[in-house]
Amino acid sequence: MSIPDSEITPESVYRNRRAIMKSALFAGTSLATVSLYRAFAPKPAMEQTGEAIATQASDFAYPKIGPDETPTPYDDIASYNNYYEFSTSKSEVAHAARNFKTDPWKLEVGGLVENPLTLDLADIQRRPMVERVYRMRCVEGWSMVIPWIGFPLHSLLEEAKPSAAAKYVAFQSYYDIQQMPDSRYAGIELPYVEGLRLDEAMHPLTLLATGLYGKSLPNQNGAPIRLVVPWKYGFKGIKSIVKITLTDQQPPTTWSTTNPAEYGFYSNVNPEVDHPRWSQATERRLGESGRRPTLMFNGYGDEVASLYAGMDLKRDF
Ligand code: MTE
Repeated sequence: MSIPDSEITPESVYRNRRAIMKSALFAGTSLATVSLYRAFAPKPAMEQTGEAIATQASDFAYPKIGPDETPTPYDDIASYNNYYEFSTSKSEVAHAARNFKTDPWKLEVGGLVENPLTLDLADIQRRPMVERVYRMRCVEGWSMVIPWIGFPLHSLLEEAKPSAAAKYVAFQSYYDIQQMPDSRYAGIELPYVEGLRLDEAMHPLTLLATGLYGKSLPNQNGAPIRLVVPWKYGFKGIKSIVKITLTDQQPPTTWSTTNPAEYGFYSNVNPEVDHPRWSQATERRLGESGRRPTLMFNGYGDEVASLYAGMDLKRDF
């Protein structure tokens, strides 16, 4: 799919808004942030219905995108989607998911924890939020830069208090054939499931996202809450999560169950490990012409490479 430049919201609008937001955060309250989002939000061609989300001022100093990178326009992020429960056609997901009901919502955190939790939508929304502008690299060879809003997964896991036996975290998406009638053509077993090792889940880069571009998540991007692990291929970013379960066994994941020769449990972005059917050395950034070199760990190696010390990343991909 190619997107004509004329349909793209100028990044300068968003960059300018971010500069103003930053000074507002220094000046004071998150309330100021909300009104600034309202005042300066780009007007996308696609209707942006989410509520503005307040972000908190302080966050861990995660690596910023490079000077030659800009956030991908909202319209591209919200109209080029992989969400097989709704459609296997990227351009049809947004329409197919338009009436998806995300309120009421229930997210359960359980398994090997001392303090199991059940969160409803209000519990999720009232958590302190941060904004993180991360690269997202899909295993198919395209990429985006997304300004997520959310909270670090470790903050939720710390509340649930993993027991000493917990080694992995399993995630499960919502699934309802009534709301997702085309899921019968998905070609994958549903509900969609994913997993991380506990140290990956606890890493400060790992986010539970509830919004993007300062607004609540569009349904097609995984409302009301989805996982974002920026150094892994995009399919690890499981959408519309209803269950988080701490376990002592490596949990099954949808794509490695579907095709274990092509998709591993770790699925770290790695330009040196080709997909059996195509090279992973370069990527097509949405909204740009040409291709960019793919970065080891998607450019987050300084932060995460130590998690994999001693592992053979070609074998344990
Ligand atoms: N989560 C669920 N439940 N179902 C899916 O089909 N697709 C994955 C991931 N999460 C998927 C999912 C894939 S393959 C990718 S690349 C990303 O979501 C895409 O996220 P985006 O549509 O927000 O860009």
